[in-house]
Amino acid sequence: MERQEQQKASRLVFVLFPSQGHINPMLQLATILHSKGFSITIIHPKFNSPNSSNYPEFTFIPISDNLPESQDSFGDFGIVSALNKNCEGPLTECIQQMLKAEDPQDRLSCIVYDSVMHFSQSVADHLKLPGISVRTGPAATVLAFAVCPRLDEQESMSLDGKSDLLSLLLKELAFSMKKFTAPGFLELRAAVTDSVQRCSALIFNTVDFIEQEALTKVQELFSASAFTIGPFHKLAPTISSSLLKEDSHCISWLNKQAPKSVIYVSFGSVASIDEKELLETAWGLANCEQPFLWVVRPGLVRGSNCLELLPINFQDSVGERGCIVEWAPQKEVLANDAVGGFWSHCGWNSTLESICEGIPMLCRPFFGDQNLNRRYVCDVWNVGLELEEFERGKIEKAIKTLMVDTEGEEMRKKATHLKEKVGLSLKEGGSCYNSLNDLAEKILSFRP
Ligand code: UDX
Repeated sequence: MERQEQQKASRLVFVLFPSQGHINPMLQLATILHSKGFSITIIHPKFNSPNSSNYPEFTFIPISDNLPESQDSFGDFGIVSALNKNCEGPLTECIQQMLKAEDPQDRLSCIVYDSVMHFSQSVADHLKLPGISVRTGPAATVLAFAVCPRLDEQESMSLDGKSDLLSLLLKELAFSMKKFTAPGFLELRAAVTDSVQRCSALIFNTVDFIEQEALTKVQELFSASAFTIGPFHKLAPTISSSLLKEDSHCISWLNKQAPKSVIYVSFGSVASIDEKELLETAWGLANCEQPFLWVVRPGLVRGSNCLELLPINFQDSVGERGCIVEWAPQKEVLANDAVGGFWSHCGWNSTLESICEGIPMLCRPFFGDQNLNRRYVCDVWNVGLELEEFERGKIEKAIKTLMVDTEGEEMRKKATHLKEKVGLSLKEGGSCYNSLNDLAEKILSFRP
């Protein structure tokens, strides 16, 4: 009864950023809030539209994004800037129409947006609706403004006098951000921070205890209430939101492997390597003697058909010990008993998915938050080690340390322990469980 009344009273509009690592957590969050009784409208740019048929209970509305056919000319941040510029008008119009046709039994409560789509907060302000900013990456990235201020801003946080851990994380952020020299990047970063300053609430895909210091700092610096309800994927049933087709034959292959014997290798949906790195990876895996499941995504080596680049004798040398797919059902893979290690680029989703299954990680970050996530994995939670170079001997040694050598035993134990602790925080009375209930209450208070 209570759930039905809430459902009638509150509709949430979600605004997606169209890349795999952002679509997944946003649709998971929408699913979680739907289970709390809210009805859901998903507004998304036409580019990389999610598969609406997997979510029959949601309303999907594509909006014009005015992006050119090919995004190749955009560079790292061009697409983010273009979407923030091009989608503001269409989003405003779309929500105005929703408000005009609003059913008093199904009122629009607020706009829940991916923090990268910062223009959504301006739309919310203009329409006098509350906006909720969702950080799909680690909470620590909200502190990015502190280490990389715009030229006209004062640096508001110096690294001196901070705890060792916070200094380490901020240095990592500074390192990643200094590599971005694209025009407009600092303005973009500032616009995201401005929207966080104006939003009515912040939602994080994280757990309090794994990011405690960063979260405390965020709460000190921003006035909006923060809700740490994640990891979202553990609260939402597994519905695929993959843009690429998942190849599930790897699950039958995994089912034939010994427990904890398989190294799973995937670098997410964006990172790319060169041909030499692909070959070193292949021979590192061939030589490590562990069974491996390797995601060789189209575009992993830019401009090539990656599978054709593998040496002719590679498949013969590994035989049934290796399984290569273009895209895997990753959460199912990591939950399979056969998987004992994850060689990852340390995207935040992959990192959370790995720790939730107690899988130790071999970290090879590429850009952005991945460097910071590597720090968390290797130096804060101590559930992984870093691969310094794409070199077959180093790869072989690192995989053995991660999965079999006594040197890695402590790390493997810590990974199991971390999984248990995260599990407890999701249970009734745990921090995530409580935070989700508080969030639902907060949303219901917006437009009573
Ligand atoms: C991007 C950024 O690169 C990352 O740093 C940021 O934290 C989020 O946005 P991406 O590189 O795609 O994300 O990595 P990640 O965050 O790990 O997200 C990838 C998602 O794709 C995960 O949810 C993973 O489960 C899924 N995936 C990956 C598959 O379903 N199958 C695969 O074969 C590989």
